[in-house]
Amino acid sequence: MNLTQRPEWTSLKNHLETMSHLQIADLFEADPDRGTNLTAESAGIYLDYSKNRISVETLKLLFGLADALELRQKISAMFSGEPLNNTENRSVLHTALRAPVGSEIFVDGVNVVPAIQAVLERMAKFSDDLRSGRWKGATGSKIAHVVNIGIGGSDLGPHLCYDALRHYSDRSITLHFVSNVDGTDITETLRELNPEETLFIVASKTFTTQETMANARTARDWLVDKVGESAVASHFVAVSTNAAEVSRFGIDTANMFGFWDWVGGRYSVDSAIGLSLMIAIGEKLFRDFLAGFHAMDRHFQSSRWDQNLPVLLGLIGLWNNNFLGAESVAILPYDQYLNLFPAYLQQLDMESNGKSVTKSGERVSYQTGPIVWGQPGTNGQHAFYQLIHQGTKLIPCDFIAFSQSLNPCGLHHDLLMSNFFAQTEALAFGKSHEELQLEGCNPELIPHRTFTGNRPTNSILIEKLTPFSLGALIALYEHKVFTQGVIWGINSFDQWGVELGKVLASRITPELESINEPELKHDSSTNTLIKRYRQQKQT
Ligand code: F6P
Repeated sequence: MNLTQRPEWTSLKNHLETMSHLQIADLFEADPDRGTNLTAESAGIYLDYSKNRISVETLKLLFGLADALELRQKISAMFSGEPLNNTENRSVLHTALRAPVGSEIFVDGVNVVPAIQAVLERMAKFSDDLRSGRWKGATGSKIAHVVNIGIGGSDLGPHLCYDALRHYSDRSITLHFVSNVDGTDITETLRELNPEETLFIVASKTFTTQETMANARTARDWLVDKVGESAVASHFVAVSTNAAEVSRFGIDTANMFGFWDWVGGRYSVDSAIGLSLMIAIGEKLFRDFLAGFHAMDRHFQSSRWDQNLPVLLGLIGLWNNNFLGAESVAILPYDQYLNLFPAYLQQLDMESNGKSVTKSGERVSYQTGPIVWGQPGTNGQHAFYQLIHQGTKLIPCDFIAFSQSLNPCGLHHDLLMSNFFAQTEALAFGKSHEELQLEGCNPELIPHRTFTGNRPTNSILIEKLTPFSLGALIALYEHKVFTQGVIWGINSFDQWGVELGKVLASRITPELESINEPELKHDSSTNTLIKRYRQQKQT
């Protein structure tokens, strides 16, 4: 049955009529304890969702929709390894990567947990050797720089987490991340480095991704040029599911860390793709990181909907998206260490739920995944918050903060946090015409200084940024995206939308490189642009 024809959907549509007359301020007036009633907590994450345009009735109707679409059964299906990724006939089992030792999770009749633990142990041994200096470069130097070469999930996960957990990292080893095929990325990175002290991790699930392979070849040439061919063995390792391509590239598969096709790229930071992170923080903290994911997994599997953080975030997001008409969601971490979190969630959410056909291939007649964007507070306040407060668009925001600073200095943390609290208050309650009049505001300025309020936000407050809490936070969003994908009936685990551009680019590359003028058979715009590029690059 089409989603929008379901009685649960119709009830939500009807309910919208009632809700559209109510402001967030009215909801707080009606229930003075709303700020404690509409909250939930698990795995150290406290979620306050009270500043949304929802009532208890809205939630009840949303939970009814989740039940009708068998969310509980779909969660079990994911955790038990059913092939939910139907277009690629794959299980979706990133949750197995953080299952405790001794768990049993089967794919095609094989318990995958021992193999996961075996890779983790190899990663731990390697990280430890590198951190202690037992692993040496070709000329006997200790490795001081690790360059992770990857893109998308093979870059954003480890990059985000290294930045986020820098406080806990071994400062004698610096990590670098190269992703863009623009030669500037690798050139500027290598410029600073001593090849004798540098190790490259080529991270690619497929080991065929154009950008990663181009960067890996350039890095290899640089190393060979400076230290010699024999250096490759001790300066290059690979993380991949494709042993044949790894060995074709010239990396000994003894120095390869594997994972499996049932781990999607954007869900892979807990796999060997997290090797660079383990090098930075060590095995113990990496295992704490996995434990944070696992705590959220357990919570997602077993909690009632009204206590279930990912389900609450997912359903409220769906309400904002499909019923209130919000097109985007802003991710606003009030922590500099989470600088890359919006970018990470962009891939997680937009690559997962940026779909317009259902799992069975029918075109949807409703909105699916939102545009995800944002940057850390308080920087964004001085850039784009104007539009969130007074613009014509409705932009629901997730505010994320930690009660304890990892770098306490003077008043900084209280200043930061006062902004965190003030923003959601201002967005929810605004400032009325009457208030401005009472303050004696110049009447001409009143329209300009009025804040309508009624702008939805979630507040996520965590005691402290640790490997555990970061893992739980990422898993929270993974499962939020899953929840929404289930309701929309889409496959959140494929990404065919990135294919066409890749195919066209590989056809165009020879046209750019050909010495003779190529015969161009594109549209007139693409032909003219290519011709102009060919002329300009030669001068
Ligand atoms: O092109 C999209 C994508 O497949 C992402 O899903 C993935 O994270 C990224 O490319 C990198 O892929 P790989 O790890 O195979 O190099």
